[in-house]
Amino acid sequence: IAEMTHMTGGRELVMVSNRLPVDRVTLEDGSMHWRASPGGLVTAVEPIVEQLGCVWIGWAGDAGEEIEPFEVGRMRLAPITLSIDEVAEYYEGFSNGTLWPLYHDVIAKPEYHREWWDRYQSVNRRFADRVAQEASHGAIVWVHDYQLQLVPAMLREARPDLTIAFFLHIPFPPRRIFAQLPWRRQLVEGLLGSDVIGFQRVADAISFRAVAERYGTAPSIGNTIVTPARGEQPGHTALAQEFPISIDAAAFAKIAEQPEIRARALQIRQDLGNPKTIMLGVDRLDYTKGIRHRLKAFDELIADGELEPAEAVLVQVASPSRERVEAYRQLRDDVEVTVGRINGERGSIGHSPVNYLHRSFTKDEMVALYLAADVLLVTPLRDGMNLVAKEYVACRGDERGALVLSEFAGAADELRDALLVNPHDIEGLKAAILRAAHMPEREQARRMRGMRRAVYNNDVAHWAQNYLGAVCAAADAKTQTQTGGRTEPIQ
Ligand code: G6P
Repeated sequence: IAEMTHMTGGRELVMVSNRLPVDRVTLEDGSMHWRASPGGLVTAVEPIVEQLGCVWIGWAGDAGEEIEPFEVGRMRLAPITLSIDEVAEYYEGFSNGTLWPLYHDVIAKPEYHREWWDRYQSVNRRFADRVAQEASHGAIVWVHDYQLQLVPAMLREARPDLTIAFFLHIPFPPRRIFAQLPWRRQLVEGLLGSDVIGFQRVADAISFRAVAERYGTAPSIGNTIVTPARGEQPGHTALAQEFPISIDAAAFAKIAEQPEIRARALQIRQDLGNPKTIMLGVDRLDYTKGIRHRLKAFDELIADGELEPAEAVLVQVASPSRERVEAYRQLRDDVEVTVGRINGERGSIGHSPVNYLHRSFTKDEMVALYLAADVLLVTPLRDGMNLVAKEYVACRGDERGALVLSEFAGAADELRDALLVNPHDIEGLKAAILRAAHMPEREQARRMRGMRRAVYNNDVAHWAQNYLGAVCAAADAKTQTQTGGRTEPIQ
């Protein structure tokens, strides 16, 4: 990562995401502090731009108050203020009550409300205006994720000098599902304002190109979408392609080698009663993650006598997420009732089969948990990538441990040596969990080696290099057109 400073070709980099990489939290006593933001976006992107340096525009996670820009290392963070109503209608509403379920295979029912859509537009406008203000001439603006899909077109209109890159961290839905959205044309046109549009999986990029053609009258040649002129706006081309995201594998490996982290892993095993098999689940508490399916399979394995309750423990870390959105409240209730029932029915004095932790942990503690776990269960019903799977693999330099991985996670495209499952198939899931629990050491090592190769071959630095390489090529092409083919040094 240290060698990456040339990745933007000397241009300023402006990051734009709904959340800043740090979140401001107001405690009950009114005091305030900053902590790392939840989710895969920040986990993956921050180590890159920390090195590159950037302006990062986003929401600080609290409603109301204005916060002045501030610096963290080489990043200048510029907070956007959202009012209570904007949080309710743009963030909880349109982003997480409409787009999130729509883009995740309608696992929960998306709600379509015109007021939410209005608010989504006005907040996207605020982000775009702020970028237009902050970005220097010829900068690269990198817009992230589903909360900000209208920003690229707004920016293109306001600032034709910028190179606009978009990356979608979550899946893009198949055309027939996307078609439900009452504002499908506007969203497609919003995204088509970009010069490069990155997706996690090949399938996502294919779906988007189909949708661009159908609702944006923008056909593709290969990975290149040809966008027609609209009003004053001239036509242009946009690259729409998969760039599977990753982690800073070496950084995780380094933590995993520290003696105090190894000692902590042993301590965790001991605290859990030194069971034969420790299984681990690590997720935001989200209905896309398949936590209910996982618990069902685990419970049935104990009921069937296939897993001895005293010998197997499932540690489920569920970090709090979007707690005011109804589907998330419902999920939390379901999960907590189920965990209570499993422990009540299958536990004994001093032993509960499920160790449920509703909170988030530091990176060090996560690595200790990865080292303590014999089996990692990653069973989402749909997931853009799932970096937890990659983190586990990066930490297991000892070539031990088994990964059960849903084929509906983006990571399944790369981690072919995992035990791949369809989480809807409870019998299949049970069989994979058992197989993982009983996997011979040689097989663990063989599979882990294959998976480690995949994670190291495409770590986050490679990802950023590929993606920003494509963005720089677009920027160069733009400079050429704008200077009428003359090549001029970039200021
Ligand atoms: C996922 C999304 C991110 C989001 C994160 C946390 O990783 O792709 O855009 O920030 O979840 O969710 P939250 O709603 O708390 O920002």
